[in-house]
Amino acid sequence: MRAARFHEYGGVENLVIEQAPDPHPGPGEIRIRVAAAGVNPIDWKARAGALQGLLPVELPAIPGRDAAGVIDEVGEGVQGAAVGDRVFGLGGVTGATAELAVLSAWAHAPTTWSDEESAGAGLASVTALGGLNALGPLSGRTLLIEGAAGGVGSAAVEIALAQGATVIGTASERNHEFLTDLGAVPTTYGHGLAERLAALAPHGVDFVLDTAASGSLDDLVAITGAPTRVSTIADHANAQRLGTHIVNAVNDSALLASAAELGRQGRYTPRIERAYPLERIADAHAHGERGRTRGKVVIGI
Ligand SMILES: NC(=O)c1ccc[n+]([C@@H]2O[C@H](COP(=O)([O-])OP(=O)(O)OC[C@H]3O[C@@H](n4cnc5c(N)ncnc54)[C@H](OP(=O)(O)O)[C@@H]3O)[C@@H](O)[C@H]2O)c1
Repeated sequence: MRAARFHEYGGVENLVIEQAPDPHPGPGEIRIRVAAAGVNPIDWKARAGALQGLLPVELPAIPGRDAAGVIDEVGEGVQGAAVGDRVFGLGGVTGATAELAVLSAWAHAPTTWSDEESAGAGLASVTALGGLNALGPLSGRTLLIEGAAGGVGSAAVEIALAQGATVIGTASERNHEFLTDLGAVPTTYGHGLAERLAALAPHGVDFVLDTAASGSLDDLVAITGAPTRVSTIADHANAQRLGTHIVNAVNDSALLASAAELGRQGRYTPRIERAYPLERIADAHAHGERGRTRGKVVIGI
């Protein structure tokens, strides 16, 4: 199969397109013919070797944590999925940016989503759902999302709105119209956030989901009044010090299915800032790595 790979840890210049062995699904897994793969911060962390101690990858490695496509092989014991089904989901830390990819968690892709949107839904939706679920019921509550314009943040805005929350999101000003379109009340991050929130939410902010890891966690705890009202997916060190919830993505098909159901209802549609062809994976990584992505960057295979 054709795949993007890197043979050594390093920068985007290490990414090459070449032939790689076809993968096959193990028990409980499926293989898809990939239509599009997601681009996530874990991709450049893995490529740069930053995860070596935590989540080692075997070299040469195919980048990519999530993808969408059509099932072409089904592993032993898999139920409720058949060759020809259109799905999206999650594989390992690497392996998705290729013609064929093995997934261990998946859901049927809503017909309302394009292949690119489906590819943008995997890691973002399970991470957003995990981060929100840690906070408790959101109906009637006011939620602040710190870092609302990125892949996880924009998914969390729509999912939290569907759960009945009022959502305030932080982003730079150029992304405020984007947040308004998603249904959130936008505000800028950084100095003076508590004062801006006092004006936007006179009854207070009940919960915060932090996706930005910008050093604001102390302020976010002060804004809600308790560390248990804050969850972060990105600021592990400060979360441990402060006692907030720390959430890591899990390969959970039930979470993907609930995200897909919101897709069918028209309440959650991953926003794709740009889709790159496989040959331009280096540009796709560089785009994401700049840290300014609005919604998701994906790669069409
Ligand atoms: N724990 C897990 O399992 C898990 C899973 C997925 C992701 N993550 C982590 O979560 C973080 C977010 O992931 P992602 O995929 O959403 O990343 P992303 O799409 O690359 O995030 C980019 C967004 O971050 C916003 N941003 C940058 N600095 C900000 C700040 N100081 N305050 C508020 N927003 C800011 C940018 O908005 P502006 O351009 O408007 O500034 C941009 O829209 C990353 O660190 C990632 O590694 C963790």
